[in-house]
Amino acid sequence: MDTTFWDEADRLLIRYGASFTPRIIERARGAYVFDREGRSILDFTSGQMSAILGHAHPDIVSTVSSAVASLDHLYSGMLSPPLLALADRLASTLPTPLGKTLLLTTGAEANEAAIKMTKLYTGRYEIVSFDRSWHGMTQGAASATFSAGRRGYGPPIPGNLALPTPNAYRSPFRTTDGAHDWEAELAYGFALVDQQSAGSLAACLVEPILSSGGIIDLPPGYLRRLRQMCDERRMLLILDEAQTGLGRTGTMYAFERDGVAPDILTLSKTLGAGLPVAAVVTSAEIEQVCHDRGFLFYTTHVSDPLAAAVALTVLDVIAREELVRRAAQLGEQLTDRLLALRDEHEVVGDVRGRGLLQGIELVTDKASRTPADALGTRVTSACLDRGLHMNIVQLPGMGGIFRIAPPLTISDDDLYAGLDILDASLKAVRHEQ
Ligand SMILES: Cc1ncc(COP(=O)(O)O)c(C=O)c1O
Repeated sequence: MDTTFWDEADRLLIRYGASFTPRIIERARGAYVFDREGRSILDFTSGQMSAILGHAHPDIVSTVSSAVASLDHLYSGMLSPPLLALADRLASTLPTPLGKTLLLTTGAEANEAAIKMTKLYTGRYEIVSFDRSWHGMTQGAASATFSAGRRGYGPPIPGNLALPTPNAYRSPFRTTDGAHDWEAELAYGFALVDQQSAGSLAACLVEPILSSGGIIDLPPGYLRRLRQMCDERRMLLILDEAQTGLGRTGTMYAFERDGVAPDILTLSKTLGAGLPVAAVVTSAEIEQVCHDRGFLFYTTHVSDPLAAAVALTVLDVIAREELVRRAAQLGEQLTDRLLALRDEHEVVGDVRGRGLLQGIELVTDKASRTPADALGTRVTSACLDRGLHMNIVQLPGMGGIFRIAPPLTISDDDLYAGLDILDASLKAVRHEQ
């Protein structure tokens, strides 16, 4: 432990969350980060769920170097060829009419822009999202974020309403045979929304797989029904694919599984593969109406050529290295291994997710399903000691939920090595008890 470093961190930094990982990281390459003691740590969270090409991918290194040297950042009203190339390429990955792009920097910012466009377009202001949602830390996005961070900051933006998160493992909505009755849950949730609405329902803003909410995959059919419910109320559907977009779940976009397209799509984390890039994509019709009504979203880094070049390279590498297929294939192996862990360990209650975005939920025992927050912390630390960085959901009652989202470029061997460490850590913690 380098006490000077941590003393200096205490003296100099604003703490923005629960705790820092107790390692000083000096270098990152491929699927690994390396600490000051020279220990390699397998990065099962792709940084902050972003570095889908691993760290320091040669194509990204070369793109950033040449863009910084030749065309980095411009006056916000200036356009450049990389921006159009990116917008065109993004549109080619999406169903029509999703063809108009706004290039930004962070996920919260993209959701902020999407919410503003929705309000202008519909003339209404109520935004519906899940009660375990995470859409970002700026005011509009945070008001639509129900999983954390609501207390102590004064009033959220009026008009944000919540739908129950369809958590198959924990939902009280059950059919007579005990299966998750998501249809009843959604109908009940929307009835509450309708009842609370001030008559100004504008949009549903949701993640296809809630990540910070505990890796909750929307049940097949859910998104289609939600789309219908939005259409019935002339609400827009905004999908936030910050974590699920760009191949991670085994399809280019998670919404493809359901054959349902959003009116507005927001992309961030994976689009920059670790660098700050985000985008809003919508139809020409929505864009036109917003423009006619004076849509304003001038930011310092809007349309930056550097960000555009990076995102274009990310899309190139995904296509060239066939990473969507790779995520699907590796995802199947990951599921098999996680299910084997569930069979072996009494404390592994649930396995869920898709492709290379999966989660396991630790419980005190399978029968009671009692959340095991403290156990989550101990397993995380046992994994770190053995060279694996795993991310627990840092929310009360959810501290036993691990998010597993390695880079899509991870080798089979590294994926298996990480899962072996997880297995060994679960055993070690059990033996300590
Ligand atoms: C689904 C989702 N949307 C939006 C955000 C916010 O993105 P950012 O932190 O880049 O603002 C996150 C971040 O965790 C996220 O997971």
